[in-house]
Amino acid sequence: MREQLEKIKLEALEEIKEATNSQRIDEIRVKYLGKKGSLTTILRGMGSLSPEERPIIGKLANEVREFIEEEINNALSNIKNKERELKIKGEYIDITMPGKKVEIGGIHPLNKVLDEIKDIFFGMGFSIAEGPEVELDYYNFEALNVPKNHPARDEQDTFYISENLVLRTQTSPIQVRTMEKTKPPIRIIAPGRVYRSDAVDATHSPIFYQIEGLVVDKGITMANLKGTLETFAKRFFGEKTRTKFRPHHFPFTEPSAEMDVSCFVCGGEGCRVCKGSGWIEILGCGMVHPDVLTKGGIDPEEYSGFAFGMGLDRIVMIKYGIDDIRLLYENDIRFLKQF
Ligand code: DAH
Repeated sequence: MREQLEKIKLEALEEIKEATNSQRIDEIRVKYLGKKGSLTTILRGMGSLSPEERPIIGKLANEVREFIEEEINNALSNIKNKERELKIKGEYIDITMPGKKVEIGGIHPLNKVLDEIKDIFFGMGFSIAEGPEVELDYYNFEALNVPKNHPARDEQDTFYISENLVLRTQTSPIQVRTMEKTKPPIRIIAPGRVYRSDAVDATHSPIFYQIEGLVVDKGITMANLKGTLETFAKRFFGEKTRTKFRPHHFPFTEPSAEMDVSCFVCGGEGCRVCKGSGWIEILGCGMVHPDVLTKGGIDPEEYSGFAFGMGLDRIVMIKYGIDDIRLLYENDIRFLKQF
């Protein structure tokens, strides 16, 4: 029996040394130490030994079992290490591979054009004024000569927050807010977001941008209005640009006009951009209505002023030949990258 044990020990050692993967080690464990393993079988046969031999062989058998267990554990940890090394080698990082490209956007066309327009007006001594997007009905309508039930309210489908609170439908309320807190001379532009509950299509968005302008001082006339807006048009669309003022109506200016610029693409010949007319309408303007000056706390006997308002989105679309306003609000990076 002693010999058998020695033999098992040597055989097991041999097999363990030859094993190259953990699965094989498990097989060896079962073969020698498992319930039906050879060592277990021998231990079972110990009953037939004499009482003197039993403890000696028992001790030896235990030693052999411990020896095999230890060898198995050592072999297993070696194999595991090797397997891990192999795995790591297979997973090595190729530092010569190109990195992930980070997509870079661009300045939003609305901001780009707004910056250009601001710069032109800064150059003429204007500064920036602001007002709230959630606006009192009073400033958005009443103070601008648009009382309740005035038909002009229907044209500007208004988002009402409550009876007296709206999402501003225009930047014109900033005129009155500015007059209330500033003494003339006033020379401001007020760019901002405005809201109208229009159905969305290629030319209508419920959110869009306007740029308001207001000049109030002693002796301001229509000539100042024309000079200022002509200068703006030439700086923005090019020196050759001509302007045309068409009489119009706005409740808060009197007289009122719309300004067209000669088409900057065809120069006035007529093309796709100006729809064949040679002219492009770009803003509304007029002399500030005396009642509006009064609402702003300014004496119309002493001061006069002009105002204008333009749609930034429209100007951006004309300038870049964008035919759908929704592109300006979807923020598709493929679109934005082009500016
Ligand atoms: N608020 C007008 C609109 O939304 C635009 C406008 C027209 C503003 C004439 C003005 C102006 O300041 O003088 O249609």
